[in-house]
Amino acid sequence: MSGFFGGNIKRPGGFLGRLVLRDRTFNQMIDWGLDHAAYGEHYIILDVGCGSGEAIRNLAVRAPYGKIYGVDTNSDSVITACNNNNGLISSGHSEILKSDALTLPFPDENFDVVTAVETHYNWPDLVENMKEIYRVLVPYGKFLIIGGEYLGSIFDERNQKWAEDKGINLHTLHELKKKLEKAGFTEVEIHEEREKGWFCTFARRPWK
Ligand SMILES: C[S@@+](CC[C@H](N)C(=O)[O-])C[C@H]1O[C@@H](n2cnc3c(N)ncnc32)[C@H](O)[C@@H]1O
Repeated sequence: MSGFFGGNIKRPGGFLGRLVLRDRTFNQMIDWGLDHAAYGEHYIILDVGCGSGEAIRNLAVRAPYGKIYGVDTNSDSVITACNNNNGLISSGHSEILKSDALTLPFPDENFDVVTAVETHYNWPDLVENMKEIYRVLVPYGKFLIIGGEYLGSIFDERNQKWAEDKGINLHTLHELKKKLEKAGFTEVEIHEEREKGWFCTFARRPWK
């Protein structure tokens, strides 16, 4: 392979190769996590903390006739996510807005699915954030949290150092389950890909 990445895609090595590997692993984690819910082709979906917009791209394939919204509190992330998804945005399949997870600019009962990939670590009050997500989900709507850092993983030492450096808190999967239930969610499931250190929680807003 030639071009910008040179041989790195096929045989990752050096700085660029590490970036390619990291992105590939990140996308594999997103794909693995998103597989824990079923999607309708017309689903309206929100990705909270959309970062560079990788999950948005993946979700657009799962809901080809629906709409994928993204929000992020950081202006640079919003710009990057828009640039990375400009085709989806210009066709009306996606819309990305600047917003904090705690005050989502959407009406009640608006989304079939809400996803949060590698972002909940930064939320100051997890239960309050979960309640806000509950508010915008339709009854029986689904909420997925996906990430590569939690307490009780085989990578605890690495993850705790990362959390200390960033000044954020990690949770056990049991704690996440309890917080989801406290926010009102039901049918909470915990999934782990232990060898890779990934986790995914699945939860539903109850029927009325
Ligand atoms: C690692 S990135 C997420 C990657 C992204 N989900 C993807 O699929 O590419 C984490 C993002 O969460 C965002 N974030 C952190 N706290 C937030 C909050 N309270 N509300 C909204 N976004 C938040 C950050 O600005 C950052 O862009």
